[in-house]
Amino acid sequence: MKRVFSFILLFSFLLSACGAPAAALPTPLPTLPPTPTLPPQIYDDPNQPVEARIEDLLVRMTLDEKIGQMTQVEKNSVVSGDVTRYAIGSVLSGGGGSPAGNNTPEGWYEMVNGFQKEALATRLKIPIIYGVDAVHGHGNLLNATIFPHNIGLGAANDPELMERIGRATAEEILATGVHWNFAPMIAVAQDVRWGRTYEAYGEKMELVRPLGEAYVRGLQTIPSGVIPVAGQTLFSLATPKHYLGDGATLWGSSRTGEYELDQGNMQVNEETVRAIYLPPYKATVDAGAMSIMASFSSWKGTKMHGQKYLLTDLLKEELGFKGFIVSDWQAIDQINPDDYYSSVVISINAGVDMNMVPYDYVTFIETMHKAVSLGDIPMERIDDAVRRILRAKFALGLFENPMPDPALQSTVRSQEHLNLAREAVRKSLVLLKNEDNLLPIDKNTPLIFVAGVGADDIGLQNGGWTLEWQGRTGNEMAGRSILYGIKSMVGPQSQVIYNPSANFEEIKDEQGQPQVADLGILVIAENPYAEGVGDRADISLSAADRKALGLMRASAKKVLVILVSGRPLVLTDELPQIDALVAAWWPGTEGEGVSDVLFGDYPFTGKLSFSWPRNNEQLPINFYNSVDKTGCDAALFPFGYGLAFGESMPEIPECP
Ligand code: BGC
Ligand code: BGC
Repeated sequence: MKRVFSFILLFSFLLSACGAPAAALPTPLPTLPPTPTLPPQIYDDPNQPVEARIEDLLVRMTLDEKIGQMTQVEKNSVVSGDVTRYAIGSVLSGGGGSPAGNNTPEGWYEMVNGFQKEALATRLKIPIIYGVDAVHGHGNLLNATIFPHNIGLGAANDPELMERIGRATAEEILATGVHWNFAPMIAVAQDVRWGRTYEAYGEKMELVRPLGEAYVRGLQTIPSGVIPVAGQTLFSLATPKHYLGDGATLWGSSRTGEYELDQGNMQVNEETVRAIYLPPYKATVDAGAMSIMASFSSWKGTKMHGQKYLLTDLLKEELGFKGFIVSDWQAIDQINPDDYYSSVVISINAGVDMNMVPYDYVTFIETMHKAVSLGDIPMERIDDAVRRILRAKFALGLFENPMPDPALQSTVRSQEHLNLAREAVRKSLVLLKNEDNLLPIDKNTPLIFVAGVGADDIGLQNGGWTLEWQGRTGNEMAGRSILYGIKSMVGPQSQVIYNPSANFEEIKDEQGQPQVADLGILVIAENPYAEGVGDRADISLSAADRKALGLMRASAKKVLVILVSGRPLVLTDELPQIDALVAAWWPGTEGEGVSDVLFGDYPFTGKLSFSWPRNNEQLPINFYNSVDKTGCDAALFPFGYGLAFGESMPEIPECP
């Protein structure tokens, strides 16, 4: 009925546009033409096969509408009304892109719905798809459930856990109106100096592959109990990234010179690409991934966004990927920094289907127009890109259900999700040293000193990609700190005293002498970072960390160090001063998972998914180049290392 009405409106508009005399208005409604000129709308009918719906929609679309589908705009840049005006296909939140002043599930839902309404006001009513980086839970959402970063989940190495985390994350993004997660990152990361090390599960392909695959399944599989609309096959949309070899770049190879490793160059041969970097993509494609993000990095000096062989021949044709390739953030522009036109032509022809613009979408749209009209980008390429994007939108059921069920809002930080995050923290911990079985800690230890800002700071526990692109320190997010966990574990006779900088001289006994704690727990935390900003030549402990360790040593009989970090840190020289050492990675909001294991309620089961370097000079060291090394050339702790209670650290050779 609505359609008949709009047809009438269109008809009367056409009449007036054709020069019908003004005096004749208002005219009586015209009678309908004897046979409707519009064919039936197959694309609108959920009972038609998806491929038929896609073809039906495609023939109705103008070039403008097709280019619009290929455009993804950052939400702070999009001018109100432009989603309708340009028939934009997708909007995203970059790191920190929450709704200003209302960072709640409701605030998000309203924001996304606002964009969705603009999309549904277009001629063909094609819904947008909204994307975020929920890389360890919905990090942009205040008070989301934040899981350990992937480096910790790699240490946990539990595909079934990954699947549950994927599902929980899908629920929390859908609760905010968001269907699309730019995750998992399935880099096989070779150099821990990289600022994205923590976003990767590990340095070995065989570890990365099943974890990424399981996470995709978790995000995408429609849970039992959720009734899909006809044709819907996806719960939310995953994006394995960054294709291909983002973890294989060489130090100092970034073409812009902005970073050292990030966005740099991979220099290996095709055999190695196929053996190490490709298999996780094959696995996630086979598991039903419908979108993949291209990498900022290069292979043999050519930007991935322009690598037709890898994007089209290998991924789409050989692996049979039927979904769409989204560019990374303004990455197309880097193909040829001096010539935007050729950058766009090269990348779209190479196989990029949707451009994460993210700012100047009008220029992108105009450039695309020009390229198609000059024949530099063939119409078949445009149609192929649009088909792929529409396929994912149909698979999500967006045409029938452009906004998710708001009832999912009750899942955000639900007890079930918090329990899951806490379980993940427990499984991610790696015990590196445990002299004289210091761990598990006796719950009745009389006096425990705790030090380090990281002991009581949820922002430091969360690391990068949380609230902000670079992460944010402080206790803005709801969560339980490691200190909270320790305090809630000890018996009534135990005393826990916290001083961030390990100054305990003021703590005196009855005789006025400085007290020596039975146990000192020092949390050494890296400040959060993301991407190339976190590239570091020197990953050893800071002077402040070493000072705190010295102070703690002087104030406690035994010292336990907990590392809260996005990568292994070089601490060979400090190791003799440390009785027990635990890598907790960036555990997220549920710090009680740490104390669960420290006090022996649960076992240590985590194993290193990255080789632990002995010094900065030997970097990069990783599974593929360190297995045969021995003594001082070898890693301090090898890939796969991790103690259980009762086991002791092997002898570390003295080195010159
Ligand atoms: C990152 C991607 C991310 C995108 C959107 C880029 O800078 O490389 O991993 O998905 O930004 O935030
Ligand atoms: C955005 C991130 C993005 C980065 C790329 C930041 O401003 O928030 O999402 O990945 O820029 O440089």
